[in-house]
Amino acid sequence: MSLFITFEGGEGSGKSSQTRALYRQLTRLDIPAILIHEPGSTVLGEKLTRLLKWAQSTNIAPTTELMLFDASRAQLVQEVIRPALKAHKIVICDRYADSTVAYQGYGRKIDIDTILKINDLATGGLKPDLTVLLDIPVEAGFARKTGQEPDRFEKESKAFHQRVRKGYFQLAADEPQRWLVVNASLSKEKIQQIIWEKVSSLLTERAER
Ligand code: TMP
Repeated sequence: MSLFITFEGGEGSGKSSQTRALYRQLTRLDIPAILIHEPGSTVLGEKLTRLLKWAQSTNIAPTTELMLFDASRAQLVQEVIRPALKAHKIVICDRYADSTVAYQGYGRKIDIDTILKINDLATGGLKPDLTVLLDIPVEAGFARKTGQEPDRFEKESKAFHQRVRKGYFQLAADEPQRWLVVNASLSKEKIQQIIWEKVSSLLTERAER
């Protein structure tokens, strides 16, 4: 049984700890799963990530940025995600195409319809079965990030990150059946429990088909 689950959210929303917790839970139950992260999780993707997150002296125009994220994604879908789904694994992906709509669309203000077309080309139309949005107010998210060197996106203005958050709300409202919106200010354990309830009910549904 395959299932494609993505996690989305702003800076400091706790995605990495929640994706790891879900992965551990599935593994404990002997359910085959993989955990990957965007951008990255392929050799090419890791090279692009270094540029996208950490380039300091290299100027990256918004359209170039959009295409680099989708280049990384195209490689990841072909090399990792589709083969894993074909092998009946659960794929947990920390960020996916919705990040591009939120950050490059709402954040950088690139036309959303253009982004959707490029995302579609990169993914070959592959959509997640479930997308978990870990929602946190911008200031609260950044307050969790103290002491770490900020990357290119963390250096963006508060207004940029507020547009990203608004973008996520819009995406979740447009497709409520795909999105699970979780208040990321709750305790880690409570968030884990909410996500597990949703994932286990999807697994049961699939098993009964
Ligand atoms: P992260 O490793 O903390 O998730 O950082 C990835 C950064 O890249 C994050 O600030 C969001 C940004 N990003 C985009 O702007 N567009 C995208 O399509 C993706 C996948 C990430």
